[in-house]
Amino acid sequence: MDRDDHRPLVIAHRGAAGQAPENTPAAFRLAVEQGCDMIELDVQLSADEEIVVCHDFEADRTTNGSGLIREMTLEELRRLDAGAWFSPEYAGERIPTLREVFDLVPSSVGINIELKCSDNRIIHLLSSLIRACGRTESVVISSFDHRLLHRLKTASPDLRIGLLYSANLLDPVKLVRDFGLDVYSMHPHFALIEPEDIAALRANGQQVYPWTVNDPEAMKRLLARGVSGIITDYPDRLRRLAGSS
Ligand code: G3P
Ligand code: CA
Repeated sequence: MDRDDHRPLVIAHRGAAGQAPENTPAAFRLAVEQGCDMIELDVQLSADEEIVVCHDFEADRTTNGSGLIREMTLEELRRLDAGAWFSPEYAGERIPTLREVFDLVPSSVGINIELKCSDNRIIHLLSSLIRACGRTESVVISSFDHRLLHRLKTASPDLRIGLLYSANLLDPVKLVRDFGLDVYSMHPHFALIEPEDIAALRANGQQVYPWTVNDPEAMKRLLARGVSGIITDYPDRLRRLAGSS
């Protein structure tokens, strides 16, 4: 998480989502065991304003339940099985709260919190939780919703933000400068980042974390181009390529 650390980060997408059910404690534990430097996860608000970790707006794909996450209370969400869809060995895994993930993941491992929810209430709730758990220095908050990130960064200038995007931008550095607030990292789709943009963003002071890269050849190419980290479903694969120190 340090801007001066030049070793590329292994960032586990939704945990080790290639080998365990995404966004569950099992996937986060496995990613840590595999030596990831950072975990990427997705958050949204439950009906009773708990920050819960789940990618889809609906529970249907990754649990045995059905319906919108934002319309269910934490108690209702806790009853869902979030592991059996992936493999019977993971039956009983639950949708965790972000606070539970903070308790589970060592503070030496960073957390890339992707905001899936565009509800303004999450700004205060998330900032308070990060501070209460002493995670200010080890999280980056990312989103495709740049207006929401702008509001969050204005309200909480000490928190790190990362701009997610999936377009071949004409000038990513201009996007950062136009943002008008300190942008810690840029998170481009891996197939839409030009080599010269990686260099220009890093020279401008941003970390560059492309997503989601599972093919070893693509990993090697991006490492050679000087990215700051790579978001992958297979942290063990990237760990071998990126080295361990
Ligand atoms: O953070 C990168 C990546 O997770 C964004 O896309 O759909 O996997 O959340 P998605
Ligand atoms: Ca995500």
